[in-house]
Amino acid sequence: MKVFVDTANLAQIEELASLGILDGVTTNPTLLAKEGVAGKQARIRHYQKICELVNGDVSAEVLSTTYEDMLREAQELASIHPSIVVKIPMTEAGLQAMRTLKSQNIRTNCTLVFSSGQALLAAKAGAYYVSPFIGRLDDRTQSGIQTLQEIVEIYRNYQFSTQVLAASIRSPLHVVQCALIGVDAITAPYKVLKELVRHPLTDLGLEKFLSDYRAIEEEATSEAKTQVPS
Ligand code: G3P
Repeated sequence: MKVFVDTANLAQIEELASLGILDGVTTNPTLLAKEGVAGKQARIRHYQKICELVNGDVSAEVLSTTYEDMLREAQELASIHPSIVVKIPMTEAGLQAMRTLKSQNIRTNCTLVFSSGQALLAAKAGAYYVSPFIGRLDDRTQSGIQTLQEIVEIYRNYQFSTQVLAASIRSPLHVVQCALIGVDAITAPYKVLKELVRHPLTDLGLEKFLSDYRAIEEEATSEAKTQVPS
């Protein structure tokens, strides 16, 4: 399972990449806004920096909503770096754009997917990734994990090559549930990936191992001192 971080923050990406657990990055307009990245040139520079920090796919989202504009913007984004995967929203224009972009060998990530029916269409349109937003479904008392299960089953039934990228992840439990279902990839916020590392029993266990060994070392040192001939 690929692990992506859902952020546009360069320091967070650099830190997680240094742990050796990162397979890529996903971004969206909200995340770019959070980092104060305004204007086309600034966006291009920011995506370049992200692509240099991580060895893997980097999802960059179009801001356009019409077929022609999405195509033009997707071509510009794809030309920034070979790691770029263009995020296209699940709309009628988006479906058309994903089909054309596939014929141009531009990889797409179909975003804002909230149902298995939408995911079926994304696969038919030739998306490289499909991003079901599980946390936002949970927020509305619909089970995001159940929707994800349906999508994985439908894709297996027809051997669709589109990869399922679980997005809008809220907790370490979500990550584990996604792995049990067998999704191809997850994208999680920095905080959730950091929380996955920690367990209180790991911290307590490490503290005990070190204090036990310190005790025996101190004992050995004091014994050695008492045996020094006068
Ligand atoms: O980037 C897409 C998705 O992961 C957004 O998540 O937390 O804004 O629902 P969230």
